Amino acid sequence: MSNTKLIAAIDVGTTKVCVLIAELLDSNDYEIIGVGVSASKGLKKGVVVNMNEAKTAIREAVESAERSAGYEVDRAFVSLAGAHVEAVNSHGVVGISGDSIITQDDIDRALDAARAIVIPHNREVLHIIPRNFIVDGQEGIRMPLGMHGFRLEVEAHIITAASTTVKNLAQCIEDAGVVVEQFVLNPLASSEASLTDTERDLGVVSCDIGGGTTDVAIFIEGNVWHTAVLPVGGNNITADVSHGLRLPASAAEEVKIAHGHACTQEVDSSEVFLVRPFGHEQAIEVSRSELANVVEARAEEIFDLLLKEVKRSGYDSLLPAGVVLTGGTSRLAGFRQLATGSLGLPVRVSEPTNLRGLVDQVQGPEFATSVGLLNWAARESSTYVGLSSLNGYSENGSFATGNKSGQRMWGVIKDWASRLAP
Ligand SMILES: Nc1ncnc2c1ncn2[C@@H]1O[C@H](COP(=O)(O)OP(=O)(O)OP(=O)(O)O)[C@@H](O)[C@H]1O
Ligand SMILES: [Mg+2]
Repeated sequence: MSNTKLIAAIDVGTTKVCVLIAELLDSNDYEIIGVGVSASKGLKKGVVVNMNEAKTAIREAVESAERSAGYEVDRAFVSLAGAHVEAVNSHGVVGISGDSIITQDDIDRALDAARAIVIPHNREVLHIIPRNFIVDGQEGIRMPLGMHGFRLEVEAHIITAASTTVKNLAQCIEDAGVVVEQFVLNPLASSEASLTDTERDLGVVSCDIGGGTTDVAIFIEGNVWHTAVLPVGGNNITADVSHGLRLPASAAEEVKIAHGHACTQEVDSSEVFLVRPFGHEQAIEVSRSELANVVEARAEEIFDLLLKEVKRSGYDSLLPAGVVLTGGTSRLAGFRQLATGSLGLPVRVSEPTNLRGLVDQVQGPEFATSVGLLNWAARESSTYVGLSSLNGYSENGSFATGNKSGQRMWGVIKDWASRLAP
């Protein structure tokens, strides 16, 4: 195993922490050898609100994945979410000197120029993603490397996050014994695992609805054009069920999963189930369509917010591939039908496919983010990183604009593997 190259992913969700360890087989190909999932604690709407609780939950998931893989996790790609995340589109222009052949250095300079926007001191740049390159006025160039030209322009999608929120999460991960190799925005991570190339090219919304957040990414012409994290999710549905039926949160969660339905009209009005609300000695019968009314109202509100975000992006007429749903909430019965009606777009639910290794343990739409992180890690470790992200998270807790983080990752994997070699 001395040549084993390992990659690791940590998805710190509002309801679960999922750690995956994989052996890198080939460029973009890996086998999952370790899976650890723990119930998340100390997070609200995707953000750490209690450091000690969050650390404990992360450590538990890391140790469980390590036991299952038989390897230790040193470094990992980590998901980041929360309403503090903001994104803007920016433009950078540079002249090409010398023999007028565009080099990686020219691409980096163009991206640096796009990055030169005013960023408040309390925010960090998380990703700079090229959407489109323009060479001597010719638009729609996906990869200008090696092309002839005098003027290179780039349109880039720049994602920033609140520094303190990022540092808190990094601290929790480090206290759990793992260095953050790179933060990846949740919506970008889940779309890695959920979208097909055709959907990205045509125009599609990737929407991961978890417990505390709804992660949105719009892809058009193969690249990401818009991202957002909305602070709503399945926990809001559970809270409504808890209030409506006067049940503790854990019982409301069980009722939602066992009997919940997002389309009231699809539910047989004679169907009932038993629950024991606060103040009742005995279990009482509740009509399933009454429950569906509560679930549908909140699910509809989530889709309204999603639709508003899509309209706000200005790309709502450029989405023939519709919406691809992931996240645990998309498991809710009737959810896809309701989404189709509310959004007026084609909708499908996606879960990770074409995986190797411990496939059964990462089955389901709630694993899109963690599997997407592994896809991201595998790609970064085998290609130059300039087209997807420029940032690595340094050990001293500040972002380093390192455009060679893909190469750095190779070094890390090699170091890691040699230390772990028997
Ligand atoms: N079968 C199911 N039916 C309905 N809801 C479900 C089902 N399974 C899971 N959920 C809901 O999915 C949500 C958890 O999803 P997920 O695991 O994707 O969230 P997370 O990644 O922990 O949170 P987030 O990404 O929002 O921070 C919970 O609200 C849970 O109730
Ligand atoms: Mg999630």
